[in-house]
Amino acid sequence: MIRITQAAPQQLSIVQQIAYDTWPHTFGNILTPEQIDYMLKMMYDLDVLKELVEKKGHVFLLAEADGNFGGFAGYELNYKKEPVSKLHKIYVLPQMQGKNAGLALISEVERIAREAGMKKLSLNVNRDNKAVGFYERNGFAISGEEDIDIGNGFFMNDYIMTKKL
Ligand SMILES: CC(C)(COP(=O)(O)OP(=O)(O)OC[C@H]1O[C@@H](n2cnc3c(N)ncnc32)[C@H](O)[C@@H]1OP(=O)(O)O)[C@@H](O)C(=O)NCCC(=O)NCCS
Repeated sequence: MIRITQAAPQQLSIVQQIAYDTWPHTFGNILTPEQIDYMLKMMYDLDVLKELVEKKGHVFLLAEADGNFGGFAGYELNYKKEPVSKLHKIYVLPQMQGKNAGLALISEVERIAREAGMKKLSLNVNRDNKAVGFYERNGFAISGEEDIDIGNGFFMNDYIMTKKL
């Protein structure tokens, strides 16, 4: 049984911990250890997470199973002032993957987005990440690609995937 709740401000450290525990497993064969380290610091510093929630309209959901937090999703409504919800982040701990936590998280984001009048869900995913298969399985299609310069000589080589709501 998976329970989805909205993360309270003091629970952003749980989001951070899940990211740190999941990224090396997810990106170990895709990115260098230096890039993983750089991106984790840039994206998951507690002050950065706090600013996303307090000033940039991001919302984090937590997935809990048997009393343990095992995954999170971060989304934003009205992305770029359009009726679009952007799924910025979704990560499930390696030992909890394949047990429907990802599905529960994405379904809840979809439900909230639909209820808020959003017409589309959009996300970026690394082109070599097998999560592309997860998104396709759950109704997303590749709608473009982009290479984003994130500084220090590092790039994110992404697909843009979208799902009509
Ligand atoms: C991608 C991720 C969020 C999926 O969550 P999960 O809990 O492992 O997936 P679920 O158990 O909810 O799977 C739901 C459905 O998608 C399918 N699925 C899951 N991963 C899949 C994959 N890589 N390719 C194809 N289908 C996949 C499952 O088989 C299931 O389908 P079913 O209902 O027919 O059985 C999770 O594996 C994860 O955190 N991966 C590492 C981090 C990552 O890559 N995040 C995305 C960054 S953009």
